[in-house]
Amino acid sequence: MHTIIEPFRIKSVEPIYFNSKEERIRILEDAFYNPFLIHSNDVLIDLLTDSGTSAMSSNQWGGIMRGDESYAGSPSFFRFQKAVQDITGMPLVIPTHQGRASEKILFSILGGKGKYFISNTFFDTTRTNIEFSGAEAIDLLCEEGKFPSVPAPFKGNLDTELLKQCIIEKGAANIPLCMLTITNNSGGGQPVSMQNIQEVKKICSEYKIPLFIDACRFAENAWFIKIREKGYADTPVPEIVKEIFSYADGCTMSAKKDAFANIGGFLAMHDADLAQL
Ligand SMILES: Cc1ncc(COP(=O)(O)O)c(C=O)c1O
Repeated sequence: MHTIIEPFRIKSVEPIYFNSKEERIRILEDAFYNPFLIHSNDVLIDLLTDSGTSAMSSNQWGGIMRGDESYAGSPSFFRFQKAVQDITGMPLVIPTHQGRASEKILFSILGGKGKYFISNTFFDTTRTNIEFSGAEAIDLLCEEGKFPSVPAPFKGNLDTELLKQCIIEKGAANIPLCMLTITNNSGGGQPVSMQNIQEVKKICSEYKIPLFIDACRFAENAWFIKIREKGYADTPVPEIVKEIFSYADGCTMSAKKDAFANIGGFLAMHDADLAQL
């Protein structure tokens, strides 16, 4: 038997409220069975999201005390900027309060009526930001990703044949960007293979469409590539991460997932003209 013992201690305890079956029935009825209308205080085990559910490390809590709140030129920002640049290789970094704020900035600039955005699957906040701008969000998930009981290593892949057809049908000029969500959280947190990222990039480049990554679970996706994709077993995860981002023109990030923060996010990119907007 192989036992994995986590190399950390968790030191804080937060009380939670246990409600009765009758109370839970009433809560569900009052919310019209819509989980977005339930108050989180009423939820014992929250399966709606993985957002902000991890414990922060002692260094992260300590970092809050070391944070410099200067009106301008804060060293905390430069530390943050360097970390994002080192991981993504993208020089332009815009901090946001969480993932949906990055999406709001990006799609209110690039979106609008008559525009189309394509993804393996847009997360619900991303789709909402796109549709709010008047544009259309199109999910082109691979076939095996649509069947939860079918085992396959990379069920978050984007269907590249459908991608080509969709670009031809909608017109490349009307598609401001294509986005890969890694991992595909709305599809059960399924990973995307490096091969799929490469193929999507190749098609996007052919049609001069920028490729963005919704990077919430980039580290976990890299781990899946290491253990499931041929040729990566001996590649360290940071190198896999670098390769993933090397195919991207930009990314949005909710730091509440693989960065284990309580709150935070960013938008990063290569294009200085777009960053200026
Ligand atoms: C894939 C993905 N994108 C974007 C978001 C939105 O991030 P946030 O909750 O930080 O606004 C989430 C949140 O769960 C997500 O899972």
